[in-house]
Amino acid sequence: MGGSKIALMLVAVVAIGIFALPSTMSVFGGTHTWYDIAGGTTVPCAKCHADKYEELSISDFHTTFAGGDSSEDCYMCHRADQDLRYAKGGGTPGVDTHAATTIACMACHEYEAEIMKGPFAGGFKQPSGSQFTYTGKVSIDSGTQVISDGDHAAHNAYVQSAVDSDMMEDSNEACIACHTAVPMEIDWTRGYAMRSQSVADSLGDWTVQQLGASGTYAVTTYSDGYGDDASTTEPYVDHDVGSSVPSSGGRADWLDFSSERP
Ligand code: HEC
Ligand code: HEC
Ligand code: HEC
Ligand code: HEC
Repeated sequence: MGGSKIALMLVAVVAIGIFALPSTMSVFGGTHTWYDIAGGTTVPCAKCHADKYEELSISDFHTTFAGGDSSEDCYMCHRADQDLRYAKGGGTPGVDTHAATTIACMACHEYEAEIMKGPFAGGFKQPSGSQFTYTGKVSIDSGTQVISDGDHAAHNAYVQSAVDSDMMEDSNEACIACHTAVPMEIDWTRGYAMRSQSVADSLGDWTVQQLGASGTYAVTTYSDGYGDDASTTEPYVDHDVGSSVPSSGGRADWLDFSSERP
């Protein structure tokens, strides 16, 4: 090996020492710069949840929360429950939780919410098994005081099933399904035919009894988050008229309810 080649190799070794060594000592850039949490709450949630931050910023509501700070906005909900002891920095470790917790919409939207008073999501029945208050005295337009008890609500079963589900906190599944742009798919099964019995006496006076439904009708509805691409599958009908007529009656042959109907 000639002298010039050795000199070249030495240059190469020194170059590796200068350029390669520091980066093998620190695998990822930025690992040795800590956020100053002692001064407040500055771990940027948006660093890992930029999608949530983006969603919140373009939303119609809770915009008062999205003040531009990439953590404070999230803290408004995910560190709202002051009964929980969060890690704070400056010598205050977390007890019940560290950075954040999940939260129920109803924590702020229940009747006379304590955590933070959002507008009351009244008009549902009290679901069983929820720690939040769904009913209470409200004043409506003219200032009259009435009880909001959800007696006529069409979605009480929806809210109850959300409370029963472990997927999210309390009834969040139902609130989020209606109020946010999450796409939805629902399998529905309903009664297929209305069934009643009509009997005329000898004078032609009718006695009509509503017997309910017979057969089932099943569809799946699906939609993107904005209802633009909303559609349904072809219904699957399971119905046998012969077995559903009251025992006293005969079969109306000329009404052919095919069970194979698409
Ligand atoms: C270093 C990345 C990182 C940062 C910073 C971060 N998160 Fe997360 N977060 C994750 C990951 C990964 C998950 C899912 C795994 C898990 O739940 O442990 C998650 C889950 C969550 C969940 C869902 C928990 C659940 O049970 O559904 C919430 C809420 C949340 N983070 C809020 C926050 C908030 C608020 C902040 C700011 C204080 C934050 N995160 C900062 C990475 C991060
Ligand atoms: C930390 C408390 C808090 C939580 C948790 C919370 N909200 Fe809110 N919400 C508020 C406040 C306060 C307002 C009124 C101010 C605003 O819109 O920024 C509001 C406003 C709203 C509004 C608009 C009502 C109107 O008449 O203007 C809707 C709808 C709503 N929230 C739904 C939800 C849903 C759904 C969830 C759960 C996914 C939720 N909120 C979670 C506090 C909260
Ligand atoms: C208005 C209240 C509210 C605000 C503000 C809010 N969140 Fe949430 N977030 C919720 C609720 C409610 C859920 C559902 C919790 C559950 O699992 O029951 C949720 C769920 C999440 C999840 C888990 C959902 C998933 O898809 O896995 C993450 C992650 C999260 N939030 C991060 C954030 C971050 C980051 C911010 C700040 C940019 C933020 N959130 C601001 C109310 C809020
Ligand atoms: C079946 C769909 C549906 C479900 C489930 C639902 N909401 Fe609503 N919510 C609505 C509609 C519709 C309105 C009235 C909006 C309008 O004016 O068109 C409304 C109004 C509201 C308001 C405004 C009330 C006011 O005083 O201004 C809040 C807050 C709210 N909902 C929160 C919630 C919360 C929290 C949940 C979960 C318990 C929930 N909603 C469940 C559909 C739903």
